[in-house]
Amino acid sequence: MDKVQDTIDLLKMYNQEHIIKLLEKLDEDKKQALIDQISKIDFHQLKELYDNTKKEIEIKENKIEPLPYLDKKKLSEEQKEEFQKLGEEVLENGQYAVVTMAGGQGTRLGHSGPKGTFKLDVYGKGKYLFEILAENLKEANQKYKKVIPWYIMTSKENNEETIRFMEKHNYFGYDKAFVRFFAQSELPLLDINGKLLVGKDMKIKEASDGNGGTYSSLRASGCLAEMKEKGIKWVFIGGVDNALLKMADTILLGMAIKKKVQIASKSIVKANAHERVGVFGKMNGHPKVIEYTELPEKMAEEVDEDGELKYGEAHIMCNLYTIEAIEKISKETLIYHSAFKKNSYIDEEGKEIIPTEPNSYKFESFIFDAFELFDDIAILRGKREDDFAPVKNKDGVDSPRTAKELYEKYWNRN
Ligand code: UD1
Repeated sequence: MDKVQDTIDLLKMYNQEHIIKLLEKLDEDKKQALIDQISKIDFHQLKELYDNTKKEIEIKENKIEPLPYLDKKKLSEEQKEEFQKLGEEVLENGQYAVVTMAGGQGTRLGHSGPKGTFKLDVYGKGKYLFEILAENLKEANQKYKKVIPWYIMTSKENNEETIRFMEKHNYFGYDKAFVRFFAQSELPLLDINGKLLVGKDMKIKEASDGNGGTYSSLRASGCLAEMKEKGIKWVFIGGVDNALLKMADTILLGMAIKKKVQIASKSIVKANAHERVGVFGKMNGHPKVIEYTELPEKMAEEVDEDGELKYGEAHIMCNLYTIEAIEKISKETLIYHSAFKKNSYIDEEGKEIIPTEPNSYKFESFIFDAFELFDDIAILRGKREDDFAPVKNKDGVDSPRTAKELYEKYWNRN
C-alpha cells in the first residue's frame, strides 16, 4: 500500500490540492508528520461541517417553551434539609467526582496561558483560578471526609503547561493522587472555501473542538472507566472561569436525586437581555440551552406579562450528571457550531498571512447540547451574588475587576 499515493488521492477527493503541493515541498520528516496528521482527519465529517456553515441556524420561537425550575431561595426548610441529606450521602460515600473544563485559552481575557493560571487580584495576595477551584473542593473534602477525584480537561495546546503549573504550585494542597488531567480533541480549521489552513510548523491548523468534547474525551482517555471503577455515581462538570462556582452543592445534588433525573443544572436570572450567557428552554419537548451567539435579538429582548425576560434563565456551566448519563452522551455525536474567526496561516509561497478580518471557520460542540438527549433535566435557580463571578473579558463586564468584587463580597458575607 502506498501511503503517500493514498494521501494524495484523499486530498484530491476532498479538493485539498494545495496540501498536495505542500507535501511535495517538505523534507522527509515533515512530510511523514503531515501524512500522519492527515490520516487522522475525518474528511467526510469536515465536508459536512463546512456544508453546514452555509445553512442558517434557525431558532424558532414558537417551538421554545420555558423550562420549569426550583428557586433555591424559595425552598422550604424541610425541602432544603431533605435535598441536603440526599446529596451529603453521595459525598460521604465517595461517589462524587468533579470535572473542570480548562481547555479554553482565554483569548478574550488577554491572558497568555491556560485560563486557570490567571491570577485574580483578591485579598491583596491574589489567587489563581485553579487555586480558587481547589479551595472549593478541599472545603467539601473536609466536610465529607472523602477526597473528591478531580479531573481536569486541558487542550493539546495547554496540557503540558497546565500540568507544569499545578506541579509548581503543589496542586494548591490538593491530594495529587486524586487529580487527573486529560486532553480534549481537536478539529481542523477551514477557510471560507472549505480549504485546510497550514500553520508555521507546516502542519494542518487544528483547534479544540469545544467543551461538548468533554464527554467523548472522558471516555477516550479512560477517565470514565476509572470513575466507574471507583464507584462514582454523580459527576459534576463545570468551567474554569467562575470564581464563585460551587462544585459540590448538596442541594443541587439532592434535588436531582429526589426528582430522579439524570442531569441537574444551576441557573441564575439573566442580568439583562444582552448578557453573554446561554438560556434554558424546552424545544420539541426536550431541555435545551440556546447560546447567546445564536439567540435572535428579538427573543433575547422579549419580556413576559410581569416584565421579566421571557428567555431569562441563564446557564452558568454548573452541571451535574449521573455516571450513566455521561456514559450515554459519550457515545453520541453532538452537533457542531461554527464560528468565523481570524486565524493566521501559511500561503502557497510559504509566507505567513495574518488576517485583519475573520477568514476561517472553527468548529465547536457545546456541553449543553447533550441535554436534548434526555426527556427532562432539573434546574435549580441560584443567586448571582452567590454563584456567578465570571472572568471572561479584559475590562468592563465579567472582567477580573467585577469578579474580584463579587468574590470578596461573597467571602466577607460567608
Ligand atoms: C459559556 C457557555 C454559556 C454560559 C457561559 C457562562 C458554552 C458553549 N457556553 O460561554 O452557555 O452561559 O459560559 O459563563 O459552554 N472550554 C474548553 N474547551 C473548549 C472550549 C471551552 O474546555 O474547546 C471551557 C473553557 O475553558 C471554559 C468553558 O469551557 O471553562 C466555557 O468556555 P467559553 O468558550 O469561555 O464559554 P462562554 O462563551 O463564556
